[in-house]
Amino acid sequence: MSRPETFEGHLIRKGLSRRSFLKLGAALTSLLALSPDAIPDVTRRLLRSTRPSVIWLSFQECTGCTESLTRSHTPSIEDLIFDYISLDYHHTLQAAAGEAAEAARLGAMRQFYGKYLLIVDGSIPLGAGGAYSTIAGRTNLDLLKECSAGAAAIIAIGSCAAYGGIAAARPNPTGAASVAELMEKKLIANRPLVNIPGCPPLPIAIGSVLAHFLIFDRFPALDDKKRPLSIYGDTVHQRCSRFHFYEQEKFAESFDDEGARKGWCLYKLGCKGPTTHNACAVYKWNNGTSFPIQSGHPCLGCSEPNFWDGGFYRSLDDFIAENHNTTEAAAASVEQGRQLYEESCVYCHPADPARFETEPGKIVDVLRNGNLRSHRRLELGEEQLTRLQRYLESIE
Ligand code: SF4
Ligand code: SF4
Ligand code: F3S
Repeated sequence: MSRPETFEGHLIRKGLSRRSFLKLGAALTSLLALSPDAIPDVTRRLLRSTRPSVIWLSFQECTGCTESLTRSHTPSIEDLIFDYISLDYHHTLQAAAGEAAEAARLGAMRQFYGKYLLIVDGSIPLGAGGAYSTIAGRTNLDLLKECSAGAAAIIAIGSCAAYGGIAAARPNPTGAASVAELMEKKLIANRPLVNIPGCPPLPIAIGSVLAHFLIFDRFPALDDKKRPLSIYGDTVHQRCSRFHFYEQEKFAESFDDEGARKGWCLYKLGCKGPTTHNACAVYKWNNGTSFPIQSGHPCLGCSEPNFWDGGFYRSLDDFIAENHNTTEAAAASVEQGRQLYEESCVYCHPADPARFETEPGKIVDVLRNGNLRSHRRLELGEEQLTRLQRYLESIE
């Protein structure tokens, strides 16, 4: 029986010289935020590692996460790592289809039981018995339950798998849930979990977690949202190339004013960089070509929970009130909701908001749909609706 190929053999086969191995080890050591003293050890361990089996399940997703990953052209770190792992099942990239694909998945699961890595992108719909998304006639939850049982660990890729993403945005019609939520609810096996959020995430973030697993047989240090600290430890703001303009208080006020043309800070256009943890400003996309802020667009906060409902161009204060719940900002938002209620709602609804008839969680939908004639003239924006809801929830 032939011995499994090592990463060293793989690199030689790819045409890399032995001299470039040390360079790769050094780049990985810095990427994993380890001390330079660790370079020889990291290089040695990486070169000796053998190909792990990976099963990749795609659920309610847009394929953006896979697209992002396949956008690396030259032998970058993530390219080399991804080329090396044994991707035994991936809906988009596998050549096999139908029964052959399912047989490959079951075969890999049997052969590497307790050792394979499970990667998930997309959220998992729990509504309507899971009927919103099925694969080979089985619900996403059923498939995930089966695959998580024998997995050594799970990597949730993209904000959909990590937090529910766009499908879980209000009103979440499919009952979309994240991998972590399913674990918490004990609907799937409890396994070591890493979240790699972003819409989509940086390819290097995925590659570095896999590399760490290859080298040390465990995941890197994580933050409280289970994200690798080496990538998500700092905010976009801390590493942004427009930061000096922020400090000089030079802000673009609109997308086409002079400030925008001069590349000033995008804070006043709703940039969420100060509260968003990600390394886009360092690694960027398309072989380090660019990232949203560099191209003139504010950060939308795509690697933080609830970024769809947070409102792309809302002021940071409102965003913080909803997503980070700082006492002061939340109280201000509730107070604005109270004023709105007293100015607009009390003419038809009880003056005492405790006696308000509709569940606060349903108010936004009722008003946004505009199908109640009496509400048609009420032109409330997203922010006002959210404040109103917050106020009524605070009464509850
Ligand atoms: Fe698509 Fe974004 Fe979800 Fe990835 S995280 S599947 S890019 S919507
Ligand atoms: Fe911070 Fe955004 Fe301004 Fe960059 S553009 S400095 S991330 S607020
Ligand atoms: Fe996402 Fe903001 Fe980076 S929107 S891609 S975290 S700059």
